[in-house]
Amino acid sequence: MTEQTLVLIKPDGVQRGVIGDVISRIERKGLTLAALELRTVTTEIASEHYAEHAERPFFGSLLEFITSGQIVAAVVEGPRAIAAFRQLAGGTDPVEKAVPGTIRGDFGLETQFNLVHGSDSPESAAREIALWFPSLNS
Ligand code: CMP
Repeated sequence: MTEQTLVLIKPDGVQRGVIGDVISRIERKGLTLAALELRTVTTEIASEHYAEHAERPFFGSLLEFITSGQIVAAVVEGPRAIAAFRQLAGGTDPVEKAVPGTIRGDFGLETQFNLVHGSDSPESAAREIALWFPSLNS
């Protein structure tokens, strides 16, 4: 069954110049792009996107980071796209959890600056895609 997931390449990924590498990994896995856009994000959208982390101690610095520069927002689709992209990304902590060969395992050192985001469930994907790409009908 085809599924869609929201993928972000965060400001650290854009600044590090790994947009092409991340998109290439998505395509090599067999996933496809339903939407792709370079943009900056407002604090309002970022707060909604990360609403589940609102009480966490890192929430303020996470919002500051996410709004600090350009990001790539994409809707990625394919069979089991949510789990497939999370496999490509690796675990949240780029050193303790993500293994070499994954995006975070290859490029990251710190949990906040972990290069990419991928929706973690069908419910999150639907909510996040509606937030970032309101004109897309999924
Ligand atoms: P992401 O998968 O986008 O989901 C929540 C984000 O919060 C996460 O990636 C990290 O960028 C950030 N994050 C999660 N845990 C921590 C932490 N302990 N310290 C700082 N940032 C965190």
